[in-house]
Amino acid sequence: MEPEIVELKTWACQAGKILRELYGTHHQIQHKGLVDLVTEADHRSEDYLLSEIRQHYPSHMIITEESGLIKGQAERCWFLDPLDGTINYAHNVPLFAVSIGYAEHGEMQAGVVYNPMSEECFSAERGQGAWLNDEPIHVSEVTELIQSLLVTGFPYDTHNAVHTNLEYFNRLTLRSQGVRRFGSAALDLSYVAAGRLDGYWEIKLSPWDLAAGILIVEEAGGVVTSFDGDANVMQPPYSIVAANPAIHPLLLAALHGS
Ligand code: IPD
Ligand code: CA
Ligand code: CA
Repeated sequence: MEPEIVELKTWACQAGKILRELYGTHHQIQHKGLVDLVTEADHRSEDYLLSEIRQHYPSHMIITEESGLIKGQAERCWFLDPLDGTINYAHNVPLFAVSIGYAEHGEMQAGVVYNPMSEECFSAERGQGAWLNDEPIHVSEVTELIQSLLVTGFPYDTHNAVHTNLEYFNRLTLRSQGVRRFGSAALDLSYVAAGRLDGYWEIKLSPWDLAAGILIVEEAGGVVTSFDGDANVMQPPYSIVAANPAIHPLLLAALHGS
């Protein structure tokens, strides 16, 4: 039996409800790194998602942020980010999401990104298109970088790394209408898919940040590659450039310095 998009949506909404109920309460915060946080809400959301997938698809493999790799058939694999945007969540900023992706034989088949505060559910099925709630979505038609609104994010090692995203951020700020930094890779991708933003790039992500959002952008007519222009983004170092088809080559070239 194959997973259906309606199942992913139902589980994302239920996990989102858990996050919404705990939003604004006093959190138990643990530090995974200097600025890398995890709260009890991340764990509660993930425990719920894991219990559903294990119950319905016990033989499948699951890759999660907080519990790591759960062994199973590698050709049927789930990617779970139970709370994408934990720092926003911990600061009571209502920009965060539940992200659920499902792949077969290494190819994404279905993805859902749900913001429980705005109740926006972005979803896609391979070959079927992308939606925001029940409406089809499509990437923007902007063709010039200077008319584009971009978004990026910064990895948690920015304070210590030699090569950071700050150089790219400076460059693209001067060559676009602006670069936003919302703090949720899954929502960044979904906003590109919905045509709110024209392009997104980020370095050093993780598979659970990207899995669902990549399919949503592609099914909305966008182009997704690594910084090297490779179509397979779901491999180390998990860098990404996602944009509408006109902006993508311009953004890629600008990131490479031209
Ligand atoms: C983070 C967010 C953020 C991105 C970071 C991610 P988390 O995920 O997606 O936008 O810049 O690289 O790690 O930790 O909130 O799930
Ligand atoms: Ca994440
Ligand atoms: Ca997370």
